[in-house]
Amino acid sequence: MPRIVYLNGHYVPYDEAKIPVMDRGFLFGDGIYEVTAVLDGKLLDNAPHLARLDRSLKEIGIPNPHTAAEWTTRQTELMRRNDFEEGLVYIEVTRGVYERDFLCPENLKPTVVMFTQPKTLRDHPLAKPGAAVITVPDLRWKRRDIKSVSLLAQVLAKQAARAANAAEAWMVEDGQVTEGASSTAFIIAHDGRILTRQLSTAVLAGVTRGAVLKLAEENNLRLELASFSVADALAAREVFYTSASTLVMPVISIDGQRVGDGRPGPLTKKLRQLYLSMAVNA
Ligand code: PDD
Repeated sequence: MPRIVYLNGHYVPYDEAKIPVMDRGFLFGDGIYEVTAVLDGKLLDNAPHLARLDRSLKEIGIPNPHTAAEWTTRQTELMRRNDFEEGLVYIEVTRGVYERDFLCPENLKPTVVMFTQPKTLRDHPLAKPGAAVITVPDLRWKRRDIKSVSLLAQVLAKQAARAANAAEAWMVEDGQVTEGASSTAFIIAHDGRILTRQLSTAVLAGVTRGAVLKLAEENNLRLELASFSVADALAAREVFYTSASTLVMPVISIDGQRVGDGRPGPLTKKLRQLYLSMAVNA
């Protein structure tokens, strides 16, 4: 079965989906993206992903070409055409196509792309052994709440992680962990408090973060929204990160130093389990 992608209203074989060289996403990274997880053929927590897409587009002045219901119809049709059961549905909206110029007319027609990416989420190969993380300086711009396709700093961070045999890079600014290159950072203190950073322009409002915080609350776990340092993380009882592509991922080392007892922690495992049950029953 050929891979079908969505391009500007059409479902086309991947090889036929072409974007003009003058697309501003290509030339300037002038666009927004979203990634929603799919388990058992169902979109997980899709509403907040679409709300974040809408917000990101507004923040950079690109009109949202679709309502949430229209997006969902298109995502669902794309999954159907790809016989898609588990993985990620990617959406990208760029400002559109225009002769290369920093400025462009305000009424450009946005370019809309969607594709599916099979990925093992439930039985992610790192979920059982846990992931190694390295830390890197946070080189990104100051509006990380916007899910921009300008991801050079994240690509470099991931390359550094791979070179160190790590799965993720945590970004550090002013001595505090901001977030992962493509995930939200969490620690669990020795008194059981689950800590993650408060939302601001310094981090992306992770959808999985939101779901985990809600699950923690419903299960009477203690939460604190606070920044933490790499030293705090190294001294923590458990460490994990969250994202649509990893769900809840235990961390077993940071910069080569063991975290906790060097194995995925019990509360992290419980949160991953709670997340998976919630996702399946939603
Ligand atoms: N990334 N922080 C950053 C910088 C991210 O890129 C992501 C997600 C997250 C977690 O957000 P969510 O829980 O909504 O996936 C946090 C996606 C998965 C990606 O770029 O592929």
